[in-house]
Amino acid sequence: VIKVVVAGAAGRMGQTVVDAVSHADDMTLVAGVDPALGSGVEEALGDAEVLVDFTQPGAVLANVAAAIEAGVHSVIGTTGFDMAELERMCQGAAVNVLVAPNFAIGAVLMMRFAADAARHMPKAEIIELHHDTKLDAPSGTAIRTAALMADASGNAPPPIHSVRLPGLVANQEVILGELGQTLTIRHDTTSREAFMPGVLLAARRVGALERSPTVGLEHLL
Ligand SMILES: NC(=O)c1ccc[n+]([C@@H]2O[C@H](COP(=O)([O-])OP(=O)(O)OC[C@H]3O[C@@H](n4cnc5c(N)ncnc54)[C@H](O)[C@@H]3O)[C@@H](O)[C@H]2O)c1
Repeated sequence: VIKVVVAGAAGRMGQTVVDAVSHADDMTLVAGVDPALGSGVEEALGDAEVLVDFTQPGAVLANVAAAIEAGVHSVIGTTGFDMAELERMCQGAAVNVLVAPNFAIGAVLMMRFAADAARHMPKAEIIELHHDTKLDAPSGTAIRTAALMADASGNAPPPIHSVRLPGLVANQEVILGELGQTLTIRHDTTSREAFMPGVLLAARRVGALERSPTVGLEHLL
């Protein structure tokens, strides 16, 4: 049984993760922590094996540093933080870190298809649409998609447009254009449950990673 601490437990994602971990047969929830609940990660890590963090860009790295210090693996869903700083923190660490800008299988496939398409259709733009309380723009998923498309095609990363409106959860369109034709690859998240199978898979597998940090759920599929 994997002992899990969830950081950001009062948030939209954190509440859904607490529920998913509580219902997983092979996991126990050690604690769900959040300053909004009057708790922090450090006091909860003693008895844990994996920290799952869905917090804020300004909070995640301190939580992961505490986890590394306590010998606890980390699964990071938070977006918008300094990846170079995380890579420095992971050097020589005795535990592993997995970061995924998007834990939904459909979004992972969208990124793969977009990278494939970019090899054949070099002109593209990305439109990402999220709820209006999202703190970061562009989204971590859009930045990752653009990087994967640039790697695959050898071209500059495509431009990204960000839409923030109430009523949205998380959506992204990659539009590729050629003379006389366009191709649109679109992913829509209609509920935060979309992310849970990926989050649970990451919590199960983070301890056995060969590289840390590993970026992207695709490395576990
Ligand atoms: N990787 C993915 O698949 C995925 C999917 C959706 C959202 N996200 C990202 O997850 C993050 C959270 O999104 P959300 O919509 O749940 O946000 P939210 O604002 O609803 O929740 C964030 C929570 O973190 C808490 N928090 C702040 N500092 C903390 C700390 N030091 N320790 C513990 N908790 C702390 C806040 O009090 C809040 O309750 C964002 O960065 C978002 O972009 C990632």
